[in-house]
Amino acid sequence: MIAGNGDTGALGFGTETRASVLLVDDDPHNLFALEQALSTLDIDAVKAASGEAALRHLLKRDFALILLDVHLPGLNGYEVASMVRQRERNRNVPIIFLSGVDKDDVHFFRGYSAGAVDYVLKPADPVVLRSKVAVFVDLFNKSRELQRQVAIKQKLLDDNIRANAERRMAEEALQRVEERRGAIVRSLPVALYSVDLANTESDGLPGPQFVGDTIQSLSGFPAQAFADAPDLWRSRIHPDDLSRALTEKAAALASGAFTIEYRWKAADGEYRHILDQGVLVRAAGNGATSARELVGTWLDITDRRKAEQQLAQVQKIDALGQLTGGIAHDFNNMLAVIIGNLERVQTQLQTGDAKLAMRVDMAMQGALRCSDLTRQLLAFARRQPLQAAPLDVNGMVRDMMQMFHRTLEDEIAIDTKLAADLGTLVVDRAQVESMLLNLVVNARDAMPDGGTITIGTENLTIGDGDRVFPEAAPGDYIHLAVADTGTGMPPEVRDRAFEPFFTTKELGRGTGLGLSMIYGFVKQSGGAIRIDSEVGRGTSIRILLPRSAGPAPKPVLTLAEEADCPPARAGETVLLVEDDHGVRQMAAEELRDLGYTVVEAPHAAAALERLDEGATPDILFTDIAMPGGMNGFDLAATAVAERPGLRVLYTSAYPEFALARSKQVRIEAPLLQKPYYRHELARALRGQLDQPATREVTAP
Ligand SMILES: Nc1ncnc2c1ncn2[C@@H]1O[C@H](COP(=O)(O)OP(=O)(O)OP(=O)(O)O)[C@@H](O)[C@H]1O
Ligand SMILES: [Mg+2]
Repeated sequence: MIAGNGDTGALGFGTETRASVLLVDDDPHNLFALEQALSTLDIDAVKAASGEAALRHLLKRDFALILLDVHLPGLNGYEVASMVRQRERNRNVPIIFLSGVDKDDVHFFRGYSAGAVDYVLKPADPVVLRSKVAVFVDLFNKSRELQRQVAIKQKLLDDNIRANAERRMAEEALQRVEERRGAIVRSLPVALYSVDLANTESDGLPGPQFVGDTIQSLSGFPAQAFADAPDLWRSRIHPDDLSRALTEKAAALASGAFTIEYRWKAADGEYRHILDQGVLVRAAGNGATSARELVGTWLDITDRRKAEQQLAQVQKIDALGQLTGGIAHDFNNMLAVIIGNLERVQTQLQTGDAKLAMRVDMAMQGALRCSDLTRQLLAFARRQPLQAAPLDVNGMVRDMMQMFHRTLEDEIAIDTKLAADLGTLVVDRAQVESMLLNLVVNARDAMPDGGTITIGTENLTIGDGDRVFPEAAPGDYIHLAVADTGTGMPPEVRDRAFEPFFTTKELGRGTGLGLSMIYGFVKQSGGAIRIDSEVGRGTSIRILLPRSAGPAPKPVLTLAEEADCPPARAGETVLLVEDDHGVRQMAAEELRDLGYTVVEAPHAAAALERLDEGATPDILFTDIAMPGGMNGFDLAATAVAERPGLRVLYTSAYPEFALARSKQVRIEAPLLQKPYYRHELARALRGQLDQPATREVTAP
């Protein structure tokens, strides 16, 4: 096959119109004669005077035929022919040898074997030569035409294939876009609907005519269900919301648009919060405009409402905490007076009237119970002084398990799932113990017919925006969970369980302070808490407490528990500073009972005056929160500066001073929490007076 030359057109085949014929002869006359003989053919005759010249032409273009003289200077005809045949591009070019001398068979044979298609003797008959050349040129043109046709067909075929492929790709892309859009639309918590108002019934609105497919994911019902039962939508609106919803919707007939919110019972039986919004589509008719169709959307806003309710719940509990904390503070001051005075009466009555002693004792019991309650309230209000120390939580749970096993009824099994590699907490052990006890008691109370309590611990790391504990700051925690298989809590109980005094237990069985204390403690400790509960299946209370990395902070104060009261040494004087008259009077009497000389002052300025007047106290016993712009911490700093060696003991009914003191205090000294027992006061004073000297805190 003769290949097209390098000059290819857009369709990939030669665009030359005339076939070329290469005439090779070293004799110009012969070349001229050949040219003349072929002059009537529609060809380009290209002349070459040597084999080398011929080869050069062959490099540049394709020929339909070569007329090749055998006897050439340099490369002879045979050699040129064999070189032509060696080149892929010219391999099939027909060659006709021309020879005037070699007329025997040997030369014919050599010529044919060198690739000739013919062997013509010179002088050649022009007519014969022309017709031979014409055959080959014709053949060349035909094959070139054939090639052109094939190329066109191939091109069309390629185009077709490419067009098909492109169309298919475009179709696939479109399909993907549609699928995605479908998926997005299907997953949107919104469904479209329309109501035909043509035949409005007397009692209000007819059911929806058309409902979009997305209703399936929103409601659990297929769209068809609404077409089959036009009353379906209305029948599942919460009974408390139904009449309002219908009235507002009916009013929309007049106003033209509506936005209503109501609860709607989905197929799974759960109520969803639905935002129902729509407009009237009016049609012109008989001169007046009349409502024809109502088009609206149902949007599921349950998640949003839930989040809002949770936030409101947290805010409510925080507000309650502030209120409770304020009341508890005042209570503590009053209780300090009551308990202190009762204690004094008790000591003076020791040998006296037994009946009176019993009455005083009962009053004391009542006051002490009040004090306990106040402590619990302060815990909820996050205003309790915490005595943080490193705690091995698993060890604590194991210790408590013995008590649980002994005290829980046989029907209740108690189990643990404790992580082996559990980290350490730096917390107030007593608080964590009371927390666990409260949770176990709650679990027991929720399982009147028995069941299983499981206490679990594990390390947990919280990242940004945790789904389970959204309010917990990112960080490392210990996760403590107490799960039971009891009655569970309905949502309205679960929502209020952290509120102080909220209880579902009968009078005398619960105060409703257990979970509120736990809540306050967990929050104060920088942790988080959640309730997972399902009616009839059980409850799991899950708590996060920050895992400790650094060393344990110093305990705020350690108080002795034994009621032995170390007395004053001879001549020891206390400067007592307290703004509450009742409390000051009671404290002064107690101090005198213990053998101290007492100098009293109602505020800081008065105390400094006493010092200026020449009082020489051994110890300053001062309240923290006082009127007059100078608190107990400031007073201690000034007084110690004036009287180096003066010992200090702080007291407060406001326990958060104990928490804040690390920032404010310049004179390091213990803080006695009001209300305090006599022995606590006696021991704390003795403890300070027996110290070498009051230390100044180096770094404020
Ligand atoms: N594990 C539980 N299972 C079911 N309901 C619970 C559970 N824990 C708490 N509750 C519910 O939460 C309410 C409040 O609990 P909380 O511990 O604060 O108070 P209480 O147990 O009623 O009283 P208190 O703990 O002060 O004796 C309970 O009355 C109860 O209805
Ligand atoms: Mg409880």
